[in-house]
Amino acid sequence: MSSKNDIGTDSDATEEQERSGPRHVAIIMDGNGRWAQARGRPRLFGHHAGAKRVREVVECCPELGVKYLTIFAFSTENWKRTQVEISGLMSLFRRYISKEMKALAARNVRVRFIGDRLRLDDKLVRLMDELEHETEGNDGTHLTIALNYGGRDEVARATKRLAEDVATGLLAPEDVDEETLPRYLDTHVLPDPDLVIRTSGEARISNFLLWQSAYAEYEFIDTLWPDFTAEELGRLCRSYGTRDRRFGAVKK
Ligand code: FPP
Repeated sequence: MSSKNDIGTDSDATEEQERSGPRHVAIIMDGNGRWAQARGRPRLFGHHAGAKRVREVVECCPELGVKYLTIFAFSTENWKRTQVEISGLMSLFRRYISKEMKALAARNVRVRFIGDRLRLDDKLVRLMDELEHETEGNDGTHLTIALNYGGRDEVARATKRLAEDVATGLLAPEDVDEETLPRYLDTHVLPDPDLVIRTSGEARISNFLLWQSAYAEYEFIDTLWPDFTAEELGRLCRSYGTRDRRFGAVKK
């Protein structure tokens, strides 16, 4: 179990109150397949185009005041796709990490991965570990990549570890509450997302950050992920700034 102590300091919170943009944006990058299909190309062509957008979006975060960016790259349900697409995506993730490692480190981006690594191949897991290690001293944009991630799977894995701590006496059952459980989630060092964006016109959350998004604002936009731009993210961040977040309370 880890604590949240390395993030979310008081000065971060004060800065947050002083401006109206989202501090943590989470994105469901959907529509790569349809984008490729519209061009008569294989689905993997769309995923490669989508990977290029990841770079552009990461680069614009500092200017937009987005400190945390979390992107959904591969879900626990995506294993239902064809072997060709799965292998192509895994190879794309390996290439992305190898190719972007230096640039991400130089841009002061701190990268983390969430999801269950057990089903991923050793070579990919080694690269993920390496990228996390290479960037762990960075304090610019916090980029979190969800890979073999599912919100239900994450809560189940967290509950298992929590139950183990109860069984060994590290945690008392009466101490289990809304503050304790998230410390066992993959995202334990991250603040909850303020804004969740899904591209491609689908209005569902597909098992993404289920616990963490309880009070997030949502944007479901028609743009297919390979067409998504920094400008569009800027527009969505500004629109977020006009929303009235009450977290269940009544505004004075
Ligand atoms: C959903 O679109 C997209 C995915 C399952 C993969 C997302 C992966 C990328 C954007 C590639 C790059 C990511 C990184 C981190 C390098 P879809 O294929 O379901 O699209 P469709 O609904 O149009 O078929």
